[in-house]
Amino acid sequence: MRAEYPALREGYAHSDGAAGTLVAARSAAGIAEVSGGAVANKTTAFAAGRRALGIVEQGRSAVADLVGGEARGVVFGQSATALTYLVSRTLAAGWRPGDEVVLSRLDHDANVRPWVQAAARAGVTVRWAEFDPATGELPVEQYWNLISDRTRVVAVTGASNAIGTIPDVPAIADIAHAARALVYVDGVHRTPHEPIDVRALGADFYVTSAYKWSGPHIAACVADPGLWERFRPDKLVPSPDDVPERYEHGTQSFELLAGVTGAVEHLAALVPATGTRRERILASMAAAKAYEQDLFARLVQGLRDLGGIQLCPAPAGGCPTVAFRVGDQLPGRTAELLGDEGICVFAGDYYACEYFQTMGLRETGGAVRASIYHYLTLDEVGRLLDAVKRCR
Ligand SMILES: Cc1ncc(COP(=O)(O)O)c(C=O)c1O
Repeated sequence: MRAEYPALREGYAHSDGAAGTLVAARSAAGIAEVSGGAVANKTTAFAAGRRALGIVEQGRSAVADLVGGEARGVVFGQSATALTYLVSRTLAAGWRPGDEVVLSRLDHDANVRPWVQAAARAGVTVRWAEFDPATGELPVEQYWNLISDRTRVVAVTGASNAIGTIPDVPAIADIAHAARALVYVDGVHRTPHEPIDVRALGADFYVTSAYKWSGPHIAACVADPGLWERFRPDKLVPSPDDVPERYEHGTQSFELLAGVTGAVEHLAALVPATGTRRERILASMAAAKAYEQDLFARLVQGLRDLGGIQLCPAPAGGCPTVAFRVGDQLPGRTAELLGDEGICVFAGDYYACEYFQTMGLRETGGAVRASIYHYLTLDEVGRLLDAVKRCR
């Protein structure tokens, strides 16, 4: 499987998957194929245009298989941030003063600020779900008090990109749906690490970025086609009014869409499996999860054993991402020292600014973040631990 990642040949230990993974060979091949061949704008009139139509269809069906949605419900966009701005703006057109949205302080700012800004323009109240700083959990019970018949949207992360917490999204969605609120789930950090079923999550909208799961820099927001039909985004007069095209501005990036399909094919083949692509994805991602969780347990235990490392509290069973500080060293300095040893980690708040603000760590540089993705090895976890030991 590591041979499927040509960039690993550079020799770095990539514990920075939470910020973006390396691109799988199949994904890169898809991009190269479109760039090197004749692909025109979408038309049924000639072969190169029909190829473009096929690429878009294939991209939608690949993402649908990855997360358990419907191909016609897959909207592509430049990034999860851009898509969340699009959806929040579009939904906000129907909000009235006195309506409410419920956000969480565990979320990446991409699932916070677009809603805050849309709410401010519409005279809508923002209500906040708080995480428990001692455990890193997002308690569900608080949602009973936060959600009311005035709630229009509950935006919550599928998993924290800072500390890996996986909130109980189905339980939160049940409370939201009982109040007829829509649930917008940021699946960016969760999708790379386990099988996803948007319906089981109770996500009305589920956003995910391909560059976090071995693909290119493009994102998708998945919803029921009937739900997309209910809203009218800003759009050009001659552009398609159908769903999902109505939500996609301008000409699609056909090369990146081919890269998305390649990445999904890659994820469907991490372990030998048979059946439909969806079934193979479920088997592969379950295997990836088991492998990553094993490595992650060793990483966290190793950090604890080193002594002098402060780990941000996180509940067990989350995505394999840990935030920590090495003594009183600035996190940015730790990341540089590790970088000098060929180990890639990020430092800062990784845009989870509400989290770090609440933890009182934002002004002092946040924390170092190490994450596990399926191409990391036990040896690389050992390299990371040895390097952290040397920076103390
Ligand atoms: C949890 C989470 N949500 C949203 C984003 C933003 O994604 P994008 O870069 O596609 O806008 C990120 C990026 O790091 C993330 O980790």
